Amino acid sequence: MEVKSLVEPDRVHKSVYTDPAIFEREMERIWERIWVYCGHESQVPEPGDYHAVQIGRQPMIMVRQADGRVNVLHNRCPHRGVQLVGNLKGNTGQSFVCSYHAWSFWLDGSVRAIPLAKGYENTRLTRENPDCQVKRAARVDSYRGFVFASLAADGPSLAEFLGEAKVAFDDMCDRSPAGEVEVVPVCHRVVQHSNWKFFMENQLDALHPSVTHQSTGISAARVEKRLKAQGTTPPLYYHMLSAFASSFEQWDAVQTINFPRGHGILKAYMGLRPQDPDTLAYEALLKAAYGEQKTEEYLSRSIHHVLVYPYLSVQSPLQQLRCLRPISPDKTLSEIWHFRLKGAPEAIYRRSLWYYNLVNSPATMINADDLENWTKGQRGLESDGGDWVSFHRWHGDDRVEDGVTYSNHGTSEAVMRSQFQAWSTYMA
Ligand SMILES: [Fe+2]
Repeated sequence: MEVKSLVEPDRVHKSVYTDPAIFEREMERIWERIWVYCGHESQVPEPGDYHAVQIGRQPMIMVRQADGRVNVLHNRCPHRGVQLVGNLKGNTGQSFVCSYHAWSFWLDGSVRAIPLAKGYENTRLTRENPDCQVKRAARVDSYRGFVFASLAADGPSLAEFLGEAKVAFDDMCDRSPAGEVEVVPVCHRVVQHSNWKFFMENQLDALHPSVTHQSTGISAARVEKRLKAQGTTPPLYYHMLSAFASSFEQWDAVQTINFPRGHGILKAYMGLRPQDPDTLAYEALLKAAYGEQKTEEYLSRSIHHVLVYPYLSVQSPLQQLRCLRPISPDKTLSEIWHFRLKGAPEAIYRRSLWYYNLVNSPATMINADDLENWTKGQRGLESDGGDWVSFHRWHGDDRVEDGVTYSNHGTSEAVMRSQFQAWSTYMA
């Protein structure tokens, strides 16, 4: 398969969204080699706590070991291959016990006991045989509490892989007076009936909100206006929705920064820094923790979305994280998480919760409108109605410096062009 011919600087062939052979190659060349987000350390606070997680085609387990470290293991008993855990999460105690023949393993994957061991005497399967261990992810590392694993023993370190996109986690954690976040252990899981690329392209697509989200944005703006006219301050959550009705000119004025490896940032457009008593109390806590200057630096970072290509969308100012787990060319599981700023007042957490429920939840009018586009997009690309997908908008207009592409227009399709550049490099 000549993958190179499918990606041109300003357009891509539809098969990159639909071809099962390409999907398999993506799993092998991308997901099963790069650093994949597993979860947050606070999801597994106690020894024995685990979360099942999918890395490419591999069912894995993120588990807190007895020594406090977080490990990532293949969810497979070395005896007859049965999955060691069947639930999404839980606590397994001191060891994993296979439900088939009760082989048991310590939390680091080493064998604890093989029942009725006499039957293995004089066979080549002894406890010392490495085949008796649960296979581990080749590498596990974390950044500010966010745990990643790579199934490849070599390749860039986590820090190298994240590059400039690590600001997603810095921006989230720095907004906490304690410098840390903890997961809210509720996760919306949505199966999108579209290729994973639709989601990644859409995240920094500043052209679509004034079309796709127009009805929601305008309705919220109307209520906001009416409340103001009545002399009431509209609750902040109306602003979260009315921001989607920003004019085309406003969207075009924001910048996207597109890094090597496909990562990217959509700079801020919401200016979420009201001067109400809750915000002021929160800012006072930050100033006590970090001083005036650092607080100002942390709160004025110009970020709306950070993408860690090819699977994470982080809205750090509101502590939102969405993670993709591709299932097939036309099916993608998205996990929608949000976090609590440790040490911040409850009122600040409520804002994160509003955004989670109003914008990112599958029940909202925002996410639902996007989901519809992606499903229809997938169907269109599966048809014989045309072969190419266009990313021509402002092609040739962006500014490139040291491998980083800065759009001169928020609505430039530089985002998608940059993502496909990274994709081609991975796939070649
Ligand atoms: Fe959208």
